[in-house]
Amino acid sequence: MQYSRLSPVFVLLLMLSIALYYNVQVNATTDAQQKLPKTGNLVSNFKVPKASDSKKAPKSTKGGCQPHLNVAFLKVHKCASTTVSHVIFRFGHEHDLLVALPAKTDCDIIGHFGVIRDEDYEPPPGGRRWNLFTHHAMYNRSRFRQLMDPDTRYITILRDPLQRLQSAFQYHKFETRFPGMKKETANGTAYITTYLKKPSFWDLQFIPHENIIDRENFCFRNCMSRDLGLQKKDYDNHTAVQAFVQGIENDFTTVMIMEYLPESLVLLKRRMCWTLRDILYDSSSWVKKSTYSLQSVFTREMVENFERHNHADVVLYARFKELFLKQIKEEGVGFKEEVKHFKRVNDKEK
Ligand SMILES: *[C@@H]1O[C@H](CO)[C@@H](O)[C@H](O)[C@H]1NC(C)=O
Ligand SMILES: *[C@@H]1O[C@H](CO)[C@@H](O)[C@H](O)[C@H]1NC(C)=O
Ligand SMILES: *[C@@H]1O[C@H](CO)[C@@H](O)[C@H](O)[C@H]1NC(C)=O
Ligand SMILES: *[C@@H]1O[C@H](CO)[C@@H](O)[C@H](O)[C@H]1NC(C)=O
Repeated sequence: MQYSRLSPVFVLLLMLSIALYYNVQVNATTDAQQKLPKTGNLVSNFKVPKASDSKKAPKSTKGGCQPHLNVAFLKVHKCASTTVSHVIFRFGHEHDLLVALPAKTDCDIIGHFGVIRDEDYEPPPGGRRWNLFTHHAMYNRSRFRQLMDPDTRYITILRDPLQRLQSAFQYHKFETRFPGMKKETANGTAYITTYLKKPSFWDLQFIPHENIIDRENFCFRNCMSRDLGLQKKDYDNHTAVQAFVQGIENDFTTVMIMEYLPESLVLLKRRMCWTLRDILYDSSSWVKKSTYSLQSVFTREMVENFERHNHADVVLYARFKELFLKQIKEEGVGFKEEVKHFKRVNDKEK
């Protein structure tokens, strides 16, 4: 995790907090304190000014909603989820929430392949349940229901599946895990193009990572669906995939789309009744497409191979992108303005 990249944002927030502290006479104990699992920091003790209401986005704070504090963010691999998880971590820190942490400090995953044992996480004090989850983990409905506060909202982020694989291929240097792939790839050409000529063949050549954590991180087939709990045996079962996608739709209140990150965060903010400040993110750590050094021209055949091989992810992404576009359209005119404003503020804050 790249915490160092967060520091400008933290400094900014600290300054904001101090400014607010001196402007507002903070009275010690309030309702908010009693309701929160942990008592105390100054942000949670007074009403955070809201830029908008949850649905209609009026400018006044009158009759404003209460910020929703219990959130499980399923951090899907290579979907800008680290950028979003920093936002969620900061929210937890500011509101003094009980955040799920792995038992091992150098581990970015909680549990292994969908099984979260009690020894995989830092036990919450007093046997309480988590307010916030923002690590990698494979979504396991029943287990998350046991561990999270009952009032938790589930959120996640998806990305165009082919772009996601391209990003993972470069990030993890997958060519080193598929023996023979380098030899078969022309100089200056991205290894993913070799993979996409015959994905089923290459899958059998794959050498899994020695380290159990990276074994889970190094994923190259239906990875978003896998992270959200689809079993491998169901990858090619269209009925099971349909049921899986429906299940995610039922369980998750907001599914963000990486290609629309600012829009996604503003939508999240409105639904959670958070503030603009809550969703500021580090756009400098944003990996741009232009950073790919190797050329990847996907032929029609490669794209078709990809889509056949990753049916679940294609269906999942198509469904939630459609839903997302419909949702932001329903937010109305004020939404576009708010996104514009948010982008301006966010880029200035860097
Ligand atoms: C703090 O509490 C006192 C006494 O209850 C009250 O008079 C004062 O207005 C409060 N200040 C704020 C900022 O809420
Ligand atoms: C989900 O968690 C339960 C424990 O609550 C475990 O028994 C089960 O195997 C897990 N499911 C999967 C698919 O890993
Ligand atoms: C391919 O790359 C290698 C190593 O960088 C280089 O030595 C070789 O000349 C390149 N071959 C061609 C045909 O560009
Ligand atoms: C496909 O999934 C459905 C729903 O889970 C199941 O009933 C069916 O047996 C599966 N088919 C195969 C061939 O595994």
